Amino acid sequence: MQEIIIRTMQSTDLAECAAIEQTALDAWSMEQIADELAFEAARLYVAEWQGKIAGFAAFQLAADETTLNTVTVAPALRGQGIGKALLEDALSQLKKEGAVSCFLEVRVQNETARRLYRSLGFEEAGMRKGFYKNPPDDALVMVKSL
Ligand SMILES: CC(C)(COP(=O)(O)OP(=O)(O)OC[C@H]1O[C@@H](n2cnc3c(N)ncnc32)[C@H](O)[C@@H]1OP(=O)(O)O)[C@@H](O)C(=O)NCCC(=O)NCCS
Repeated sequence: MQEIIIRTMQSTDLAECAAIEQTALDAWSMEQIADELAFEAARLYVAEWQGKIAGFAAFQLAADETTLNTVTVAPALRGQGIGKALLEDALSQLKKEGAVSCFLEVRVQNETARRLYRSLGFEEAGMRKGFYKNPPDDALVMVKSL
């Protein structure tokens, strides 16, 4: 695969990111992504491939703790290392900003995402029963030291 560029999200990326996000469960609307982009603690990154947005990830940074709120890769480009490259690069940028740990919640039934997080060194830290709707699922809390 050609070079993947990881960079911070700009407002001009919103439409492409929202279209990708709509392919995921629990998808944020374009308005929600735009609101997040305007939030001072938010850190949003995109993966660009062949001049197009291939995926994006949204974190928040509060003091020395960061939370991954959403990550989605375009369906046609999944399974080629883009999600992993995006999160690795984002986590290294957040570490430079002072983050020492990253938390996330993931659907228990989302085995693909759980594998991605495990491959990045995230460990299971707890469970939130009945956290998700449509379809119902429990949330696994995962954490990684940066
Ligand atoms: C989860 C998601 C972001 C992964 O992005 P991706 O670019 O496809 O992932 P990568 O190709 O970088 O793969 C990274 C790791 O994820 C796991 N993985 C990826 N695709 C997988 C699949 N189809 N089946 C099982 N594991 C898979 C593997 O462990 C892989 O590492 P490896 O190739 O070294 O074995 C992507 O599938 C997606 O957008 N899913 C829908 C949205 C979603 O579920 N987001 C997470 C919400 S918590």
